[in-house]
Amino acid sequence: MYPAAFCSATISGILLQNRLIRSATHESMAESSGAPSAAHEKLYTDLAKGGSGAIITGYAGVQQDGRTSFPGMLMMHNDTLIPAYRQLTDSVHRHGTPIILQLAHCGRQTRSAVTGMKTVAPSALKDLIFNEERPQELDEQGIEAIIRSFVSAAGRARKAGFDGVQIHMSHGYLLAEFLSGYTNRRRDRWGGSTENKFRIVSEIFRRIKEEQGSFPVLAKINGFDHRRGGMRADEAVEIARLLESSGCSAIEVSSGTVEEGLSIMRGPRFPSEALLACNFRFKSMPVPLKQVTAPLLRLAMPSPKPYRNYNLETAKAIKKAVSIPVIAVGGIHTLEDISAAIESGSADFVSMSRPFVIERDIVRKLQTGKQNASRCIMCNYCAIMIEGGPLRCWYGKLPARQALPRA
Ligand SMILES: Cc1cc2nc3c(=O)[nH]c(=O)nc-3n(C[C@H](O)[C@H](O)[C@H](O)COP(=O)(O)O)c2cc1C
Repeated sequence: MYPAAFCSATISGILLQNRLIRSATHESMAESSGAPSAAHEKLYTDLAKGGSGAIITGYAGVQQDGRTSFPGMLMMHNDTLIPAYRQLTDSVHRHGTPIILQLAHCGRQTRSAVTGMKTVAPSALKDLIFNEERPQELDEQGIEAIIRSFVSAAGRARKAGFDGVQIHMSHGYLLAEFLSGYTNRRRDRWGGSTENKFRIVSEIFRRIKEEQGSFPVLAKINGFDHRRGGMRADEAVEIARLLESSGCSAIEVSSGTVEEGLSIMRGPRFPSEALLACNFRFKSMPVPLKQVTAPLLRLAMPSPKPYRNYNLETAKAIKKAVSIPVIAVGGIHTLEDISAAIESGSADFVSMSRPFVIERDIVRKLQTGKQNASRCIMCNYCAIMIEGGPLRCWYGKLPARQALPRA
């Protein structure tokens, strides 16, 4: 029987040749202006040629203070960027593949040292990892500016030929910070009840709809995190319902925050060697100290279990509650798991990130029977090493000049 994963389907009129989507993956490849580079064009056309049903770009910043701390972030904060994106979408469309721009503001999960601006958040609470400074609590004016930035960026994305945008409201970035009671302690109309915490998202959707009509707007949400007072499945289901009534085109279900360590992208072993090689906090440490620190990091930051299909249960609960398409992401790396997710009705689509880092043509390989699983070993070096340079697969090993000598 032909697996349902390879049947075409639509999201708000966008035609996907199959149900396998490239999930947003920051590539550290953008020009300093925030424009996509030639490396982006090569990557995205490779993904299109490799059979990906749709491509969601790495996160693109909507304003300067919301840039990631990693280098080479895509930006969509001004009109001068539109022609470069147009060239990119034209190249991808030549292969019949839709491309969606993910829009984000990093909130407190970034560094002033990189953005050149004060970090901002719904409440002035320090992040455990980005703890160099206390973020500034956003006032009404700041919130309004951020809403406008998301709305303008969506308009630019449409002009640049994207098939839609995805609003990033997961993983502890700014909109996730508003949605989670762990990071949002406000007592005004932007905090407290789920409706209040959702207000900023609802405004973004309302105004994009007002200005861009039927242009598809997707969302990536957290089904849960591991923070005290944070996101739980029942509230995520309520948020999914609110998204549907806001005109959202599809919901991608993820989990976790950067603060938790590797819970967004899980794996059996914390990549301490990679962190010590390129993270701003550790890279200049003397080697003997790194050798002592490596095992401690592994102990301090274990990835939660299971490593496979970890968002599927929440995706299923959300799918029961809404009638718009649901996309499940997170450790769904084998054809068996992909097919089970779709055929059991837990999700309409499956998205993947790391499998596309190691094999840009993974979908074609699964579809033609060349492979029945990704070759990704979940070492997560890719997720750490983007702090030092462009995205690539390291397959759990650094070259000798970067590797940590044995103690
Ligand atoms: C190198 C890397 C960069 C990522 N960048 C983003 C991003 O820009 N936006 C986003 O929503 N998720 C990002 N993610 C998370 C993935 O989209 C995905 O949710 C997560 O890796 C779990 O899926 P997987 O098991 O298929 O890798 C990134 C993951 C990796 C490994």
